[in-house]
Amino acid sequence: MTASIAGIGAYVPETIVTNDDLAKIVETSDEWITSRTGIRERRISTGEETSDLAAEAARRALAAAGVKAEDLDLIIMGTSSPDCNYPSGACEVQAKIGAVNAAAFDVSAACAGFIFAMNIVQGFFKSGIYQTALVIGAETLSKVTDWTDRSTCVLFGDGAGAAVLKNEKTGILDMLMGSDGTKGEALMCKSRTLGNFLTGTKPEIGFMTMDGQEVFRFAVKRVPESIETLMKRNHMEKDDIRYYVLHQANERIVEAVARRLKEPMDKFPMTIAKYGNTSTASIPLLLNDMVEQGMLKDGDKIIMSGFGAGMTWGAVLLEWKQSV
Ligand code: COA
Repeated sequence: MTASIAGIGAYVPETIVTNDDLAKIVETSDEWITSRTGIRERRISTGEETSDLAAEAARRALAAAGVKAEDLDLIIMGTSSPDCNYPSGACEVQAKIGAVNAAAFDVSAACAGFIFAMNIVQGFFKSGIYQTALVIGAETLSKVTDWTDRSTCVLFGDGAGAAVLKNEKTGILDMLMGSDGTKGEALMCKSRTLGNFLTGTKPEIGFMTMDGQEVFRFAVKRVPESIETLMKRNHMEKDDIRYYVLHQANERIVEAVARRLKEPMDKFPMTIAKYGNTSTASIPLLLNDMVEQGMLKDGDKIIMSGFGAGMTWGAVLLEWKQSV
């Protein structure tokens, strides 16, 4: 038995912020952003919190799967921008959707969070502990973005995606996760700084910082490596893989991965132009788009690959089953 996707759902805030809108607040241009990242616009929340986006994506995933909230055994939410340090985002979603029988917790693996969550669910399914789970990737990165820093503020967006997983015969064929904490500073968002009555300082809140080129190099090395590892140990050739569903960080990263794998770009669907980088939400948002467009059919093998701060990376080889 293995984890199978029974239903996908997604939700993004209504407000669209274009590159031209950003050119009004920092020194940048649509031409610079589009040519270096492929991003044309992103959604930015004007009031909804991460758990609001996540709960709506979750409701949609449950409806698509035909599963009731009370039938969920487990909710795991990948997020790096939760509403609170505690309770977890997953617990907040649990309350909002009424998943009274589920254990709920968050995973902190930044843009690889959704893939890490799927890996964890698979562990529970393989051991027979749980049968039905909800995995969510949700972010309001706009609140940890420094809107005066043009090198990061043009990249990110808000959104959420969710998938209901069931323990079935067809689904995840293999998966992997990896981390390299020594490169953590390449992409970082400090929480509160230390400050208390002994230091005589007040805690300050951190914003996202990034060494873009370091992150780029990391991604174009680790992503093809992970994909090739999964194909090799499952005795698959490139022709066996229908789509590569990559974390949507940057169009140039996706193109570089395609070149390294010597695979055509039409096997790499993208949503980066309309959503920007939504971190852990990007893979379920993309999957949701693919389902809506009827791109996936029974038996299709796809590889999902997430990568980001930590540094973290993870990949899942999945055989699609049209239960969604
Ligand atoms: N608009 C205009 N100019 C900008 C800019 C912006 N939004 N951001 C940076 N620049 C400028 C820089 O100041 C620099 O100017 P200088 O040469 O006068 O110093 C120049 O553009 C080049 O900056 P650099 O950082 O070297 O650009 P780059 O070609 O590496 O592209 C990224 C920057 C961020 C697009 C690229 O490094 C990248 O995609 N990295 C991966 C980031 C990522 O995906 N992170 C999330 C992973 S989960």
